[in-house]
Amino acid sequence: MAASTTAQAHGRPAPPTRVAVVGTGGVSALHAEAVTELDDLELVGCADPDPGRREAFAARWGAPVAAASLEELLDRGGVDVVALCSPPWLHAEQAIACLERDVPVVVEKPVALSLAELDRVVAAEASSAGTCGTVAQHRFGGRAVGVRELVRTGSLGRVDVALCETLWYRPDAYFDVPWRGSWETEGGGPTMGHGIHQIDLLLSLAGPWRSVTARAARRARPTETEDVSTATVELEDGGLAVVVSSVLSPRETSRIRLDCERATVELEHLYGYDDDSWVLTPAPGCADELEPLWAGTAGGGPSGHVAQYREVRRALLEGRPLPVPTAEARSTLELVAALYASAATGRTVARGEVDAASPFAASMRGAAEPPWATGGTTTSPADDPASSASSAAATSPAAAP
Ligand SMILES: NC(=O)c1ccc[n+]([C@@H]2O[C@H](COP(=O)([O-])OP(=O)(O)OC[C@H]3O[C@@H](n4cnc5c(N)ncnc54)[C@H](O)[C@@H]3O)[C@@H](O)[C@H]2O)c1
Repeated sequence: MAASTTAQAHGRPAPPTRVAVVGTGGVSALHAEAVTELDDLELVGCADPDPGRREAFAARWGAPVAAASLEELLDRGGVDVVALCSPPWLHAEQAIACLERDVPVVVEKPVALSLAELDRVVAAEASSAGTCGTVAQHRFGGRAVGVRELVRTGSLGRVDVALCETLWYRPDAYFDVPWRGSWETEGGGPTMGHGIHQIDLLLSLAGPWRSVTARAARRARPTETEDVSTATVELEDGGLAVVVSSVLSPRETSRIRLDCERATVELEHLYGYDDDSWVLTPAPGCADELEPLWAGTAGGGPSGHVAQYREVRRALLEGRPLPVPTAEARSTLELVAALYASAATGRTVARGEVDAASPFAASMRGAAEPPWATGGTTTSPADDPASSASSAAATSPAAAP
């Protein structure tokens, strides 16, 4: 039994949750800030093979242990949860290493490079006392929690139309970091690495998806992957969402818009939101009922790592899977995989179609360079009726191994 659970069982306040940060580059500061801000969390260590980085991190945030590797850190013990902030290609392998030692782990996005990798993490969870959560910090701001509830309870009515835009700008120099821009180490372009935040928020608000029809292109950046993708996503009850993920957009913004039967809900922000980033426009005749409900969604705090770590603490105390649980993270990752499959094959891809036989389950790239990446056009389904997400590797010359 974890120390905190034991203390609770005896009516004592639970001791702080001991957090160790693995990978002390850019995003690690957001984790350290959150752990430092929350009284019931304690930063107990960090690990990074780069001695300069780990020592600077330990000195700045007061981490008592600075290890050269995850394994060295775990060998010392005394860690209640690992925060994985390493490059994406290490996430699944390091999450599994934590789970094999029964240590809960919160993994930065993307949780894994592929559905196949994520399924290995899920398998490791099944025989572990720990669970694996994914960072999706925009789910946890107060308004998102409130809007999710208004959709769930039917107060807003059906979601008929949605927009989900990640219009960001990353100059060529952004891709100088060795793991960026490669299928092998980053797993994808802005769909996988940037838009996934908004895509995850869309699904968490508007519910599951049914199919996706997508295009992708590499227009300008020095990357193997796309630098823009567009998609139409059919939601489970037939509503339609347009999803755009770009790193080519000088006027940057992140937007979600839900046109529901009874109101439009809009969120506009960049890398994080607060209550004022959201606007409700009731449909005619709905204002009297919806405005008090909308007021009730205020005051829950901004999005961000602090908001997610509060939930991490609660989940650990209550013995629940860490947020965002792998089952929910998988739905988002599956949509991303299906989006890449659709962009490569020119077909609409249904949920469930990127199965174990599909090359897009093993890699977002599929089995070969996507046609759009070499300046070609996406295969038209009329030209290639046999092509499918599962059979793309077998039927398309471009997808040959
Ligand atoms: N949630 C968000 O808003 C957000 C924001 C930025 C980045 N991220 C994600 O966080 C992850 C890290 O991004 P970053 O920008 O901090 O990258 P980074 O390159 O700045 O930092 C990665 C760190 O990991 C270290 N590292 C390399 N191999 C390691 C190993 N085997 N064990 C431990 N550490 C190792 C590197 O030395 C480096 O210090 C990525 O998956 C990225 O997509 C998320």
